[in-house]
Amino acid sequence: MDRILVTGGAGFIGSNFVHHLLAQTAARVTVLDKLTYAASREALAGLPADRVSLVVGDVADPGVVEPLVAEHDAVVHFAAESHNDNSLADPSPFIHTNLIGTFTLLEAVRKAGTRLHHVSTDEVYGDLELDDPERFTESTAYNPSSPYSASKAGSDHLVRAWVRSFGVRATISNCSNNYGPWQHVEKFIPRQITNVLAGGRPKVYGAGLNVRDWIHAEDHSAAVWTILTRGRVGETYLVGADGERNNLEVVRTILRLLGRPEDDFDLVGDRAGHDLRYAIDSTKLRAELGWAPSYADFEAGLAATVEWYAAHEDWWAPHKADVERAYAAKGQ
Ligand code: NAD
Ligand code: DAU
Repeated sequence: MDRILVTGGAGFIGSNFVHHLLAQTAARVTVLDKLTYAASREALAGLPADRVSLVVGDVADPGVVEPLVAEHDAVVHFAAESHNDNSLADPSPFIHTNLIGTFTLLEAVRKAGTRLHHVSTDEVYGDLELDDPERFTESTAYNPSSPYSASKAGSDHLVRAWVRSFGVRATISNCSNNYGPWQHVEKFIPRQITNVLAGGRPKVYGAGLNVRDWIHAEDHSAAVWTILTRGRVGETYLVGADGERNNLEVVRTILRLLGRPEDDFDLVGDRAGHDLRYAIDSTKLRAELGWAPSYADFEAGLAATVEWYAAHEDWWAPHKADVERAYAAKGQ
């Protein structure tokens, strides 16, 4: 795999994966990214021009996608609209990018015979009760709740159909909630860290009891590379780092790390259809492909993330006021 096309490579996890490729392989990388509000050119700044190039374009545009796919050995597909709250406000871009975009890419890899890895989410499985001893596995039934997760579920089904009916060489990963540098301030952890750094208070939906299974973005990148290079075509692998925490625990840890009282937050209006709990059983990925997370200690990873946001105010501050205005208009 000398030439790798990374869709959505200017986003939070896609850019992390590009850095991972540069550090761990000799591959040349092309990023295809529409540079939506969620993208960050800064996350790719300073990378060597002889190894990385950026094509600004839409993954749902076959005129852009087909020639690009044909000149690469593999495609790793991160491009998506990724925020549940936005999908509740306006599902349309989610249908365009997550469904039409994945369809467009599948047709291109079908024609060119290029290997594809499709990056998906644990949200396709719906949610679990707080006291359910089971976690999601590769055989859990699909049951998505939001327009975002339904569009990702649909994209997974398209990939499986193209594998079975057309012999496309694809794998799928479904990962839990990522955290780390360069995540947009609309998302939970960056929103709360930057609220505190900006002198405000964290905003927790509902009663704050919803559980997410946190994994550092670098561990997700390593898992994607492992699956791309060692995974079995046609297979799905769940990615998770045993990082279950409820939202109150996460916010209290952020407050403590920033030297504020642990009750210095607001409970705000809940998200419509809010999934209660996600939990990943990643035994297949660990046992079959030998992957293991390197950020085993969530609190240590979160402390490093808090420090990163404190040091990168120039990057997030220009977006902060608009994001908070939009949340405030919804009572969140
Ligand atoms: P993100 O929103 O930070 O980045 C998405 C990137 O895709 C942006 O750079 C954006 O410009 C680009 N993009 C959007 N529409 C496009 C289009 N039509 N054509 C080309 N590029 C387009 O998202 P993220 O959090 O980095 O998530 C990346 C992928 O990982 C997504 O597929 C998401 O479903 C999946 N995922 C995310 C998480 C998480 O916790 N963030 C967990 C599991 C899976
Ligand atoms: O599970 C994987 C998914 O994780 C990915 O597929 C998505 O792309 C990614 O955005 C993330 O989805 P969530 O909806 O779980 O993440 P979010 O950061 O939006 O919210 C995490 C939890 O925090 C969730 O229970 C909602 C809650 N929340 C969120 C925000 C923005 C709050 O309590 N307050 C907030 O301000």
